[in-house]
Amino acid sequence: MQPTTAEEFAHLAQELELVSAADLQTAWAELGGHNVPVEDLGNHLLRREVITGYQLDRLRRGDRRGYFFGSAKILYQVGAGSFARVYRAVNVNNGTMLAVKVLRNRFTQDAEKCRWFRREGEMGRLVRHPNICAIEDVGQENNSIYITMEFVEGQTLRELIKIRGAIDPGRAINLLDQMCGGLEYAHRRGMTHGDIKASNVLVSSVGQVKLVDFGLARIDADTADKALGNTKTDKGENLRTLDYATLEKLAGMKDDGIRSDIYFLGTMGYIALSGASALVESRDRAVRADPRRYTSVVPLHTRAPGVPRDIIDVINRMMHLDPMERFQTVSDARRALEPLLEKYPIGTGLTGTDHAAATGAQAAGEAATVAEPPPANPSKKRAIMLVETTGRAQQQLKDFFGKLGFRVLLTENPQRALARFSTTPLPADCLVISTQSLGDEAIDAFNKLTTDPFFSQVPAILLVGQKQRELVEKAVLDERRRVLVTPFHTRQITDMLGELVGESG
Ligand SMILES: Nc1ncnc2c1ncn2[C@@H]1O[C@H](COP(=O)(O)OP(=O)(O)OP(=O)(O)O)[C@@H](O)[C@H]1O
Ligand SMILES: [Mg+2]
Repeated sequence: MQPTTAEEFAHLAQELELVSAADLQTAWAELGGHNVPVEDLGNHLLRREVITGYQLDRLRRGDRRGYFFGSAKILYQVGAGSFARVYRAVNVNNGTMLAVKVLRNRFTQDAEKCRWFRREGEMGRLVRHPNICAIEDVGQENNSIYITMEFVEGQTLRELIKIRGAIDPGRAINLLDQMCGGLEYAHRRGMTHGDIKASNVLVSSVGQVKLVDFGLARIDADTADKALGNTKTDKGENLRTLDYATLEKLAGMKDDGIRSDIYFLGTMGYIALSGASALVESRDRAVRADPRRYTSVVPLHTRAPGVPRDIIDVINRMMHLDPMERFQTVSDARRALEPLLEKYPIGTGLTGTDHAAATGAQAAGEAATVAEPPPANPSKKRAIMLVETTGRAQQQLKDFFGKLGFRVLLTENPQRALARFSTTPLPADCLVISTQSLGDEAIDAFNKLTTDPFFSQVPAILLVGQKQRELVEKAVLDERRRVLVTPFHTRQITDMLGELVGESG
């Protein structure tokens, strides 16, 4: 039942173990009594970081489920795919971050899918490798089956490409080599991935690859068979996604797990180097079951003319339509990448499309340098991007920076803000992250700027609330990242902004 009074709300939140008696006591004291609108209590707990926006929304609706999965306490949703939703959560036993993948409701009645989901989760627990996202636990909460795994701070390869376009060849082959590392390990243990795609490749904020969804592919398998017109569904070990099944049917090789993973690994190299998908993207199953999707791939050298030929050759070999012409093992593919890793080091700052112009300089014996971002137009009004989740604080800060002559872009999600700052031109001159309602999450995002070389040029200010002073200690600072404790003098922030981004207005 939806709580209509603050008392009812408090009762529900306490019963669900989302707030403690002590939290409530503090809240009532600060609100001046129990007789306050239900929103006031909710917003107070949110501001105090006792509950998150996700929990608040559910509590307001009177939901009694969806807060805990085993020892994982859900903080908010980070993504959703066709079969599951993924949440960021905290392990209540030890405070570590977790990702929780929960099978969608519509599949909870499908015993077979539930069994696969659970089984794959359990098998996933057996593979431990730095380039494979570690599965911690598999369980069931009420009717929902879930898998908890390590939380990867970063982005999927898909998001990375969407935001940045093609990746420089050095970094692209480094990512590919890491994917090979994870796959090589799993293949040696008799486990293929079965669903290599850009949304299943997570790239952490320090550039480490983590493959996710090992073996979960089989959940998609019976629908794959239907789309391909197969009458008999193989319920055995080697079920395939529609993408894999179509490729294998075209090549006349059924259950070609290892070599199919190698093909799709090639498509990861393709998308990283060119910024475009090798295969036509579609949700339409008929399109995905059409073999022409594989025979009509635009050659990589056409899509990314600047990428060196020796890199293209390796990708083409991975993606050869004849499985006999592909690398036969991931280790073989990896060996072919090895000399390229040395030849094209990370961070030459060249993308597939501008590499050609620079190779001349390289040939002349000069090292390629990272292109400097173009200088900001001095006549343009300076902009800041502000990360703050609560409405009132947003407005106050927006007004404040507006008066200082800045254009203010607002966002509630620190990860999204970082994603936007990984594009050029930068969306704003400075990123301002407020810890008020985000707490440690704000710190995580802020520190990512200092640790990830992608963000080395991004000026940022962390605004820390008076009562959260202990957070200052956790912030990693450098010449472009500063911290300011509120309340502060206008002078302090204008000086700081002046140093970081030049004069305002
Ligand atoms: N371990 C993790 N840590 C952090 N984020 C994750 C983790 N696992 C998944 N995600 C995020 O959750 C999103 C959804 O993942 P999910 O596997 O449900 O769907 P998908 O791979 O995008 O698509 P599909 O369901 O079609 O395979 C991912 O795109 C990614 O952003
Ligand atoms: Mg996935």
